[in-house]
Amino acid sequence: MSKKLFIKTWGCQMNVYDSARMADVLAPLGYRPVEEPDGADMVILNTCHIREKASEKVFSELGRLRTLKDRKGSSGDRMILAVAGCVAQAEGEEIVARAPYVDLVFGPQSYHTLPEMVARAARAAGSLLNTDFPVESKFDHLPDDTGAQQGISAFLAVQEGCDKFCTFCVVPYTRGAEFSRPVAQVVAEAERLVAGGALEITLLGQNVNAFHGEGPDGRSWGLGRLIRRLAEIDGLARIRYTTSHPRDMEDELIRAHAEVPQLMPYLHLPVQAGSDRVLAAMNRKHTADDYRRIIDRLRDICPDLALSGDFIVGFPGETDTDFAETLRLVNDVRYAQAYSFKYSPRPGTPAATEARPVPEEVKTQRLTALQQLLDAHQFAFNQGFIGRTVPVLFDRKGRRDGQLMGRSPWMQSVFAEAPERLLGRIVPVRIAAAYGNSLSGSVETGEFVLSPPRGAAAGEPVEALA
Ligand code: 5AD
Ligand code: SF4
Repeated sequence: MSKKLFIKTWGCQMNVYDSARMADVLAPLGYRPVEEPDGADMVILNTCHIREKASEKVFSELGRLRTLKDRKGSSGDRMILAVAGCVAQAEGEEIVARAPYVDLVFGPQSYHTLPEMVARAARAAGSLLNTDFPVESKFDHLPDDTGAQQGISAFLAVQEGCDKFCTFCVVPYTRGAEFSRPVAQVVAEAERLVAGGALEITLLGQNVNAFHGEGPDGRSWGLGRLIRRLAEIDGLARIRYTTSHPRDMEDELIRAHAEVPQLMPYLHLPVQAGSDRVLAAMNRKHTADDYRRIIDRLRDICPDLALSGDFIVGFPGETDTDFAETLRLVNDVRYAQAYSFKYSPRPGTPAATEARPVPEEVKTQRLTALQQLLDAHQFAFNQGFIGRTVPVLFDRKGRRDGQLMGRSPWMQSVFAEAPERLLGRIVPVRIAAAYGNSLSGSVETGEFVLSPPRGAAAGEPVEALA
């Protein structure tokens, strides 16, 4: 009998990937995803701990779910309530103590044992806590056909965890030590995704460019080499990767940006701050100039590369002069887009015990100033596309009827009037307008569809498909 599974996901793309895999693992037990928690047989909250208020959000969500669980219980049924992800890993015991009606609490490394955990929870009263870092890799224990149904644009985790220990970050504690999947396993999953309809794959890892998976030759392969191998898969049109660390931007990966046409000209390379003093206090182990030099090398080899980054303002001890250095770095790099955050002390991280906190209002002012500058650059970057024709992978319907949305190679969202049959194709779009976060344009008829549907002749004109 089919059972209803509701998963709510917070945080990064790795969590989105993990949630999909949890659904895969539970499918053989009869669980099918639903859109609403009401009436579900199992609810999983897949949580994120990276920034503030993570656990409060989880507890308030649990409060609401308790009512639904009680309602289901009073009609003689049971809702299994689970908390997964990084909050579960970091604060599992507190969850069990404060919300004893939660049945399962488990960290990011143990969800392959979900069937077992569910069976134990069904038998036992009280919460089951599983925040171990198991010796075996979950990737070796996930069903083989998983992830195949992700659609046109798919995620593939190739690396997990982090050994960098930036002083503000919980990831090394919640996700554990750095780990890379073997190349053959990654290639097999990528082939399944492509067979299932993926044209684009984004390789995921907390520190993805630290990838050093074992190759079929028994040697350690870097991310650049892995990307070259994946580019051999017939039908895989686009490859991306995220998130990277400046210290792992190796030559082979940089060269791949020039030499592998499937590798998209977009790189998310967080720097966090522009002051060397702050970078040292963050334990980043690179200077602002080291970062500038990496960007120069990348742009030499791939002039149209769009850069993205992450910034933290108000790290303990950050002065006005330090912050001015961040603005200077942003002006030098000119990001195509970026994310910026106020520093938030995370329990258990070294920076959380630092004296000299930056006052909240100063953090707010700095964040506003930084975001204004980043927004201006993003807008200017987008404006540069007006009048150009760019290949867009349409992967969803637009907000208005008759519109499709997709991504340019540079990660911009592009919308255009287009017939639904162009969904899942890479289509030339002439850009007519640019906005802060997107572009709009019209499909170039008479041009050639860049990725015909499988089995159709290449180079079919757009009209023939429309
Ligand atoms: N406070 C604010 N931002 C943080 N990030 C990570 N930890 C913290 C923190 N304690 C940001 C970093 C990282 C992104 C994923 O989240 O910029 O790159
Ligand atoms: Fe966190 Fe990234 Fe630093 Fe690792 S490299 S500790 S994931 S910010």
